Amino acid sequence: MKWTEAYATGSNEVDEQHKTLFLMSEQFRETLDAGHGEGTYDLFIEFLSTYAMTHFSYEEDCMLAHLCPAADRNKVEHCNFTQFIDQEVERFRRDGFDRTVAYNLLDTIDQWLDSHIGKVDVQLKTVMP
Ligand SMILES: [Fe+2]
Ligand SMILES: [Fe+2]
Repeated sequence: MKWTEAYATGSNEVDEQHKTLFLMSEQFRETLDAGHGEGTYDLFIEFLSTYAMTHFSYEEDCMLAHLCPAADRNKVEHCNFTQFIDQEVERFRRDGFDRTVAYNLLDTIDQWLDSHIGKVDVQLKTVMP
């Protein structure tokens, strides 16, 4: 899935971080489509988890600093997403790589990026100077 102007938040830094998340998901989907991914799935989900957390904390600070009306909802949705990824990290450690689960994970991430960024993160635009 590609980042578009519809996801612009008024903060270049936040937008760049979002673009990286879109790119990571897109690149791993290409890896799966090429029949690979088993050897790098652990790196993908660990990196995703770390990157998302770093981004969430940056964005939450930004929303608080600018008194964004979506700040609370943003935090709750970040928390849910982090739990979702953590559960997959746990499942992977227990049961190992599963191509169908990996595709489902990417679908969920793409849907989440679309709805979360499109409805919550974009509210930053209303308060950014
Ligand atoms: Fe967010
Ligand atoms: Fe975000």
